[in-house]
Amino acid sequence: MLICHIILFKTLRMKSLDVAFVKQQFPVFQTPTGQTLGFLDNAGGSFVAGAVIDRLTDFYRNYKVQPYGANPLSSRAGEAMDLGRQTMADLLNVSPDFITLGASSTQCFNTLAQACVPLVKKNTEVIVTEQDHESNIGGWERLCQQQGATLKFWKVDPATGELALEDLEKLLNPATVLVCVTHSSNIIGTINPLAEIGQRVRSVGARFVVDGVSCAPHSWPNLDELDVDAYVFSTYKTYGTHQGVLVVKPDFLELLAPQCHFFNTPYLNKRLDSAGPDHAAIAALAGIGDYFQALYSHHFTDESLPLHQKARLVSGLMHAHETALCDQLLRQLNTLPIRILGRSTVENREANISLTAAKVPSKTLADGLVAYDIAAKNGHFYAYRLLQAMGVKDLTDGVLRISLSHYNTSEEMDRCAAGLRELLKNES
Ligand SMILES: Cc1ncc(COP(=O)(O)O)c(C=O)c1O
Repeated sequence: MLICHIILFKTLRMKSLDVAFVKQQFPVFQTPTGQTLGFLDNAGGSFVAGAVIDRLTDFYRNYKVQPYGANPLSSRAGEAMDLGRQTMADLLNVSPDFITLGASSTQCFNTLAQACVPLVKKNTEVIVTEQDHESNIGGWERLCQQQGATLKFWKVDPATGELALEDLEKLLNPATVLVCVTHSSNIIGTINPLAEIGQRVRSVGARFVVDGVSCAPHSWPNLDELDVDAYVFSTYKTYGTHQGVLVVKPDFLELLAPQCHFFNTPYLNKRLDSAGPDHAAIAALAGIGDYFQALYSHHFTDESLPLHQKARLVSGLMHAHETALCDQLLRQLNTLPIRILGRSTVENREANISLTAAKVPSKTLADGLVAYDIAAKNGHFYAYRLLQAMGVKDLTDGVLRISLSHYNTSEEMDRCAAGLRELLKNES
């Protein structure tokens, strides 16, 4: 493991992301608005890579029929869907049997919660956090009410929004059956120490469910290292079509109640498929693989590596680029009369920054930034309980969230900071 890290570090040290090449891969940057707008609302959904759009339109134009039949259109549709699933499996280094594709991550979490009925009974306990997006809280809360189980909140520090391991230790006990935690916060950006959390979760024999939606766009999931029972993320935030990906460990899947039609139960990848998938969107997932491959071939030479390793190397370049931009922006934001929620440095955080000003509403900031050709949004971003715990008074107005992606530029950071400085000039 250490050797892997050293090789990765040495390889990345030599390279930096070619952002001009990246931009060529996204049709939106060839449009007039795409060329001028500094898009800093990436946590809401990233731009879609051209390779994904190509596969989606190919499906719709040429073989949008019920798949897996004998006729040539139907068999082509089935092959394209299989390739989409297999590509996602290759990118994550798991078998496609243990991947469920849903309409969104929220839907995946809700389905997973219902599948956990055999585990969550009276006298059992489920732990969720105040830091999470509601999609990794609400379904568990409803499940506990339905089953007469106890829901416990792992609370954040109101000043920092962060979670302390000692607080988790106080909540864990032999009755705990599930612990549901976000990999990183979609508001404060802090990355949670999953290895340490997982160790504690396992010490009481509980299962560990992780929301990777906010983290995956900044750090492609390394499920080999994470060792969690279930991991969920959204492909519309990782340059793809609008779907949720739910990866469940084989021994965990065995414990769960199937959520599919009874006759589909023998098919592992259908067990948690409650809704019937979007065929074209699944096929288009192969485009995420194409995108990582294109970036890999542009920056690296060893084509013999498996796709998941290529994706991680590319993701390392993306992460380094975003971190540099985040640092540049935070240094400027630190001079403004604002409250940055969470850390004011790049240490152990992804490139999501949320802030409030005492007198200027967050909506005024978001609206005002449009004049500077900057797209950022305000609100609670469904992390309602986190903002509440951190003392944000008007939850509808919420925070201004600035979230970066690897196609952002240094000039956009300066423009965003300059815009905010101007909008806040009367704030003492
Ligand atoms: C951290 C986090 N978790 C979950 C979700 C829900 O994802 P989806 O929109 O795919 O349901 C989001 C969406 O913004 C999110 O940021």
